[in-house]
Amino acid sequence: MESALDFHTARALLEWQIELGATEAIGDAPVDRYALPDVAPWSGKARSNPAASAAPRAGRNAPAAGTIPMAETDPVDLARQAAQGAMTLDALRAALAVFDLCDLKKGARNLVFCDGVPEARVMIIGEAPGREEDRAGRPFVGRAGQLLDRMLQAVNLNRQSSVYITNVLPWRPPHNRDPKPDEIAMMVPFLQRHVELANPDVLVLVGNHSCQAVLGKRGILRLRGNWTEGFGKPVLPMTHPAYLLRTPLAKREAWADLLSLQARLRGT
Ligand code: URA
Repeated sequence: MESALDFHTARALLEWQIELGATEAIGDAPVDRYALPDVAPWSGKARSNPAASAAPRAGRNAPAAGTIPMAETDPVDLARQAAQGAMTLDALRAALAVFDLCDLKKGARNLVFCDGVPEARVMIIGEAPGREEDRAGRPFVGRAGQLLDRMLQAVNLNRQSSVYITNVLPWRPPHNRDPKPDEIAMMVPFLQRHVELANPDVLVLVGNHSCQAVLGKRGILRLRGNWTEGFGKPVLPMTHPAYLLRTPLAKREAWADLLSLQARLRGT
């Protein structure tokens, strides 16, 4: 069959599917599931439960008995309830692992929750996992993460003993696209609880998206280097290491910010 797609679009779509994990061809022809009869697959002649057969047939959009219609549930409220119910970091990780309302989870290989030392005085909040982080299940392991490690090392900090790291989003956005406002809003209750449970002395927000999540504003080039407060903690916004990789000249200011962090930790 001749496709209406050009080669490059078709290839990009194929690569995207492979990234999502669709690596096996199940059938030769696509199935339009919207065109199928509105009958559950288990409701054939073989059904053995007469009470179930007698039940009125629900419409396509009707909620199953006992479930809450989605329109009546605010995902941010549900996220808040789930996050507040977690009394430890492990419980918070488990609560995120079963939180199904964020579509990013469907396309991600792994939940990327944290790295480093939970008792550390410094908690770094990045944006979202990229490809390597998604594979490893750990934040900041790619090129930007390696630069972050070198930056921390320069002021005697490291994730083995003195830094705790997480991201605003625990699942990789497709093609590393920017997080959407509703995704950030849904994950903020988890992030806030994460900060409460880890209870660091200071937060370092790297990049615009973590500033948006914690401070409710962006404009990292204006915010960076200026101590402020967020989630009840002293907060230092800094430029993202990925930005520093693209803009080496900005490393000078990042160095000044690291020295400011070091001074703060020393109480000077
Ligand atoms: N960038 C981030 O903000 N977080 C990561 O974990 C990796 C890259």
